[in-house]
Amino acid sequence: MIVTIDGPAGVGKSTVAKLLAKALGIMYLDTGATYRSLAYAATQANVNPVTDVKQLIAMAKKLPLHLQQTDEGELQVFLDGREVTKQIRTEEVSEAAAQVSQHTDIRAAMVELQRRLADKHGVVVEGRDTGSVVFPYAPYKFFLDANPAIRARRRQEELALVYGRETPLQQVQEQLHFRDSLDRTRRVGPLVRPEGAIAIDTSHLAAPEVVRVMLEHVRSRTG
Ligand code: DC
Repeated sequence: MIVTIDGPAGVGKSTVAKLLAKALGIMYLDTGATYRSLAYAATQANVNPVTDVKQLIAMAKKLPLHLQQTDEGELQVFLDGREVTKQIRTEEVSEAAAQVSQHTDIRAAMVELQRRLADKHGVVVEGRDTGSVVFPYAPYKFFLDANPAIRARRRQEELALVYGRETPLQQVQEQLHFRDSLDRTRRVGPLVRPEGAIAIDTSHLAAPEVVRVMLEHVRSRTG
């Protein structure tokens, strides 16, 4: 059982993927966390996420990443045994992750890592290219999208909730726009609606409603 969920930042992929994984009793894999962890490791090692490509590739190939799920379904991220769950979610790391994910060889190493991290017993995996590149033969694929203003507001709320930081909406919108253009225009693994993916507009749907729609699709095919 592999379920892929792709879409731009701020459409609610993580929330939905966690809930769906719980409902199906399988693991949840956040592929963005792999790029974020690499970006965080690079910033810690003073490796430039845009220019130090050789070093980034070497780091990507042996990234000491360990993901663990709590009983509540939350993902805990460990780098070299040290928990970095919160550290990889800052705006600085978001931007560095958007940069490191542009390089072809880095993506190849990350895709390999993601396939290794996927549980043999089934996984709900979310990201940008999970249905098109990481698991193109997945039997269940979804593509989430939402109105840009709503996505920005969700991201703004997340920043306030996780970091207690008030960020002007205009600034969040600009950051999302920047990441969108990088995601959609890169040569390898761009953000696309994968072939065979069911599209869901989450602008006016709460996460449990999105999950209900997904479960209906999955169950209609598995009985
Ligand atoms: O989903 P996220 O915001 O945590 O992703 C962080 C960055 O990683 C984002 O800029 C896009 C990139 N990414 C990617 O290129 N491919 C994926 N499958 C997942 C994330």
